[in-house]
Amino acid sequence: MSQDAAKKAAAEAALKYVEPGEILGVGTGSTVNFFIDALAQMRHDIPGAASSSEASSARLKAAGIPVLDLNNAGSLSIYVDGADEANHQLHLIKGGGGALTREKIVAAASRKFICIADESKLVQVLGKFPLPVEVIPMARSYVARELVKLGGMPSWREKVVTDNGNVILDVAGLSITDPVKLETEIGLIAGVVTVGLFARRPADVLLLGSPAGVRELKAI
Ligand code: A5P
Repeated sequence: MSQDAAKKAAAEAALKYVEPGEILGVGTGSTVNFFIDALAQMRHDIPGAASSSEASSARLKAAGIPVLDLNNAGSLSIYVDGADEANHQLHLIKGGGGALTREKIVAAASRKFICIADESKLVQVLGKFPLPVEVIPMARSYVARELVKLGGMPSWREKVVTDNGNVILDVAGLSITDPVKLETEIGLIAGVVTVGLFARRPADVLLLGSPAGVRELKAI
């Protein structure tokens, strides 16, 4: 089974969590693209979706699913999104696609977070995947120096501007044994908009696609 087939299987397994009549939140990335394609078959059952990126909004609209302003949507039933890494506590690294800020907002506004991924994303300790940090442009160098003090090796994702007009630092060399603490520490650095650690609000369910089928993990 290819990695894409595993992503697609996980994405399709998330459909059972979609609550008819309820607005849901939709994330960003190649796994979520499979989810949006599958969600098209339920478009008449839901009022619409709040989206975490311009790219997902375009795909949702193309699938005939109304994209709703989060400010008018109230609390969302579920949030479905991928991840770059996940541990067994369902803490996540996200932001490989650069949409981490809106992803964190929509996740926070949702009652249940369903994470969909292929099994290669499950790790014992987060940090092999460089941790994305979205930063106000003028704070880039200052934040990079602070991240070095925390033991990381930040590199600027050049030529990338987020949907919010900011820049991204990818922080390599971290072994994240206390994701909640690090999320808090990095989040307090002046100029940081969002750190791509989703530990204070982890996923509630992780659907992992593999050749053996889709495994469902809940936080331990
Ligand atoms: C987007 O910013 C990310 O958080 C994605 O959710 C993450 O990179 C997973 O992407 P794939 O589904 O493409 O692996």
